[in-house]
Amino acid sequence: MSTHGITNHRQGQEMQVVEVDYLVIGSGVAGLRAAIGLACGGSVYVITKDEVRESSTEYAQGGIAVALSDEDTIGIHFDDTIKAGDGLCDEEAVRVLVNEGPERIMELISWGAEFDKSGSRLAFTMEAAHSRRRILHAHGDSTGREVERVLITKARSMPAISKYSFAFVLDLIVIDGRCYGAYVLRDAHVEAVLARATVLATGGAGQVYLRTTNPAVTTGDGIAVAHRAGAVITNMEFVQFHPTSLFAPSAPQFLLSEALRGEGAILRNIHKDEFMLSYHPDGELAARDIVSRAIVAEMQRTNARHVYLDITHLEAEYVKCRFPRIYRTCLKYDIDITTELIPVSPAAHYLMGGVRTDTLGCTSISGLFAAGEVACTGVHGANRLASNSLLEGLVFGARAAMTALDVSDHRAEVRPSDLTLSLYREQELKTIEYADEIRQAIRKSMWEKAGIIRSEQSLSTALDALKKWSHVLEDTYATRYDNEIKNMLQVACLIVEAALHRQDSVGAHYRSDYPLKK
Ligand code: SIN
Repeated sequence: MSTHGITNHRQGQEMQVVEVDYLVIGSGVAGLRAAIGLACGGSVYVITKDEVRESSTEYAQGGIAVALSDEDTIGIHFDDTIKAGDGLCDEEAVRVLVNEGPERIMELISWGAEFDKSGSRLAFTMEAAHSRRRILHAHGDSTGREVERVLITKARSMPAISKYSFAFVLDLIVIDGRCYGAYVLRDAHVEAVLARATVLATGGAGQVYLRTTNPAVTTGDGIAVAHRAGAVITNMEFVQFHPTSLFAPSAPQFLLSEALRGEGAILRNIHKDEFMLSYHPDGELAARDIVSRAIVAEMQRTNARHVYLDITHLEAEYVKCRFPRIYRTCLKYDIDITTELIPVSPAAHYLMGGVRTDTLGCTSISGLFAAGEVACTGVHGANRLASNSLLEGLVFGARAAMTALDVSDHRAEVRPSDLTLSLYREQELKTIEYADEIRQAIRKSMWEKAGIIRSEQSLSTALDALKKWSHVLEDTYATRYDNEIKNMLQVACLIVEAALHRQDSVGAHYRSDYPLKK
């Protein structure tokens, strides 16, 4: 890694230029797995806008789907994934996921991952739309935390990897269709990080919705910077809503894992009546989009703002031991899940669309790779099979790294000139006026008009509301918060435009004015 400063003569400011072999943006499962794969090729600079651990991975509860149990096969995992994707999966990408999944999991175990066991054998749980028990879990309901722990420990043991927290990607450095790294906001200064290859692994965009299970960091930054750089973005209409997030006035929209329903939890309406079987023969274990829409219909029918999840019929000790994090969190908000019904309603959970990649992790921009939720490999089609995303991060994070090593080895050593880089600072960093109000307006419009059920009318209203703030897209800002709002607005527009364009209902995308699949 080398560092020097360049001066913008018009503004008299100095910009730091950092030269590394590989730049990874994001420190969840996909980013860390990519960094580990790249470490044999040179220096790897991992930047993340918050603490290293602060990503959706850390909060993933249910687990990792993988065909490793005696009752399962790779072929059945393939079939379930394709079925959940409602005809829009890329079959080649799904084949890669299910075939390479077991190897990636065994590798993780060899690095120290401790998945829950039943006796001496791995324990697998059930989730919606899986035809076999195939979900590995750790510490009951803290699977993502265990995966993150192992990857951080592994990355820490590799001297080639340096991690920088609170470093926010402002824009990619793309010249003549090639990516040379990124401009990064760090300690209130802009830095140009030049790299032979850049891997985007910034996660999803749940924060564009008022209700989301995602942590605060999920503001769609990777998709927004890739879009600004001219990368192909695809499938943005496909937003998965998780049926059950906690709905209590003083509580966060905490995820109540699908594994609860996998272990027998029942959905009840406000009158405490079961309802799922009148919507779908698979009841509580129907696909997520079906369960989410059934909950919305039931809330409308009963004029209620939530339904209930009921696990009180299971042995209390079993529930506490199998779901310790959920048990403790709900108790903090005065709900004892072993004896009381849990108020829940759907919330935005996962973005199936994103920066288009092939199965090697290549985007449409040379030198730029993407993996994890920011990417759209086509694995999830119109609807992601539960617990396929941690696996996707591992498999495609590793693949993106292998491709980046290979491609960048053969590349002539060129780099943008200092003069070109210094021009970026000519866009003076600004402040957004009424930032809080704009952020809230974006999230509210998206939830009310571009959520679980959309129509031409609701989407057009959302687009008009978003366009009111389009001046925000024109500048670059001095704070992470303001730049996040710009990115949220960008991603919200992409979602709404794609949802308007797709005039049918498929997977997670449901148009009340076109209720049938084409
Ligand atoms: C859950 O635990 O319900 C979430 C799992 C997932 O979204 O894959």
